[in-house]
Amino acid sequence: MNGVVLELDHAQSADREQFQRAVLAGLSRRPRAIPARFLYDARGSALFDEICKLPEYYLTGTETDILRAHAGEIASFAGPNCALIEFGSGSSVKSRLLLDAMDLAVYAPIDISREHLDGSMARLRRDYPSLAIEPICDDYMALADLPPLPASSRRLGFFPGSSIGNLEPHEAIAFLGKAKQLLGPRGALVLGADLKKDPARLHAAYNDSAGVTAAFTLNLLRRMNRELGATFDLDAFAHEAFYNPVDGRIEIYFRSLAEQSVTVAGRSFAFVEGERVHTEYSYKYDIPQLETLGRTAGLQVTRIWTDPDRLFAVVYLASA
Ligand code: AVI
Repeated sequence: MNGVVLELDHAQSADREQFQRAVLAGLSRRPRAIPARFLYDARGSALFDEICKLPEYYLTGTETDILRAHAGEIASFAGPNCALIEFGSGSSVKSRLLLDAMDLAVYAPIDISREHLDGSMARLRRDYPSLAIEPICDDYMALADLPPLPASSRRLGFFPGSSIGNLEPHEAIAFLGKAKQLLGPRGALVLGADLKKDPARLHAAYNDSAGVTAAFTLNLLRRMNRELGATFDLDAFAHEAFYNPVDGRIEIYFRSLAEQSVTVAGRSFAFVEGERVHTEYSYKYDIPQLETLGRTAGLQVTRIWTDPDRLFAVVYLASA
């Protein structure tokens, strides 16, 4: 028992150290930026779950509808006896649509969070008692290979939720290249991507009327106050999100509402009024851009499923 507690303490202090290093570096450079992954502490993850239920945030509902409508076709594209490998599985909600439709040899969810993985595995084992499940707790970009999976099974990757949009294009290509390597020569990837559309629709999705997205961004300040002894006044900063049509992405920041100075981990940082700290990009693609992205990584788009309003795309990429 003590060993487990010590191990957890150790992991927590390593996480905090990483967070502190990233924040101090991010606030020291210009333009200021803090990596998006730090938005997802327990409260941030709960707020993101709330975002997914917002009427303005069409992404989750639209992708779920597409997957529900076409899971059977995805299953026949992939064939029987596949190993389904999910990159960043979180709560594994969308994967259930594939688990229900496919004849799988094994489901291998990969997630960096032990807590997420343990929680969702318990629920999956209860709901799918005869499914073989091989959870992998790791950063998939750091994996040299997957643990042994049935050799005769085709490996089908799954990367839903438009998570690809939070990567810069060179990172997205690196991710697709990594997926291709891990999935092997007969592998394929089912990828969810948000499509380019009317900027007003995009603006509303990241500036919801209930203020949940603003709370999600400002939760990063709360986290810095709690974990790094920072002195951010949450009323003196605001969430800012807009669509940049040149780069085809939503850009998200927190912006200082006044000239002020803030202490973080004993260091002082001055902000002028209007100064911003970048927290997220959310790239929006069109189909030719998705094809190019895939091709650059050695993958070929062989099928595209979308909704009637063409808001979101689920694409099937096969090793080229
Ligand atoms: C997780 N990711 C796909 C979300 C997005 O739409 O880029 C993150 C998010 N940030 C604010 N709202 C949603």
